[in-house]
Amino acid sequence: MVIHVITLFPSMFKGFIDSSIISRAIDKDAVDIRLVDLRSFGMGPHRIVDDTPFGGGGGMVMRVEPIHNALKGIEGSAGHVILTTPRGKIFKQDDAFRLSKEDTITIICGHYEGVDERVSELFVDEELSIGDYVLTGGEIPAMAIIDAVVRIIPGVLGKNTIITGDSHYTGLLEHPQYTRPREYMGKAVPSVLLSGNHKEIQKWRRMMSLKATMDRRPDMLEKTSLTEEDILILKEDG
Ligand code: ADE
Repeated sequence: MVIHVITLFPSMFKGFIDSSIISRAIDKDAVDIRLVDLRSFGMGPHRIVDDTPFGGGGGMVMRVEPIHNALKGIEGSAGHVILTTPRGKIFKQDDAFRLSKEDTITIICGHYEGVDERVSELFVDEELSIGDYVLTGGEIPAMAIIDAVVRIIPGVLGKNTIITGDSHYTGLLEHPQYTRPREYMGKAVPSVLLSGNHKEIQKWRRMMSLKATMDRRPDMLEKTSLTEEDILILKEDG
């Protein structure tokens, strides 16, 4: 998979690209992340990429031409083009699975007060937001999206990582996890996990997932299909 990132701050991606799982995915040729420095497509000797908004109001707006030129400079196809913006559709695990099947994606990192609307009208397939808050730019959202997509490309995570158990994969939050020591500051690991009884362990994990989801994200329960046993567990829990 090739991921192009059009950004005013390519240096922000250095630590991310060098980090363990992403750099391993790059080494394994599972993904190729190509940074495009938007500044180098800026206009005039000062490489200007923004301007004041028509109609007045504060702040600056990213101009369309540098972004268009950056897209034209991409070797081969830009593939599926995404703009990161707080007004975009909220990025979910299902989007990560969908995007992980693309051959090529290009993420344009938005900035300032916004991006000239013609960028979306002419070049963008999808606008994505990572949550209902406003960040200073689209780089952190781009990294969040890339991270969620790359970790699920087959072969990227070790064989022992079971993504089907992730929170959000099944429509439920993940059950609690424990490792050594068996007791810490008076808190013991639940005995069922030490029992070796896999059927009971599965049952306990399902119950804890259901409870965590009901307590923290009841909105998720409405969208997931529950078994009769799940409904009994939730009823018992009140
Ligand atoms: N740019 C600024 N805030 C953002 C957000 N929450 N999601 C995506 N892009 C953004």
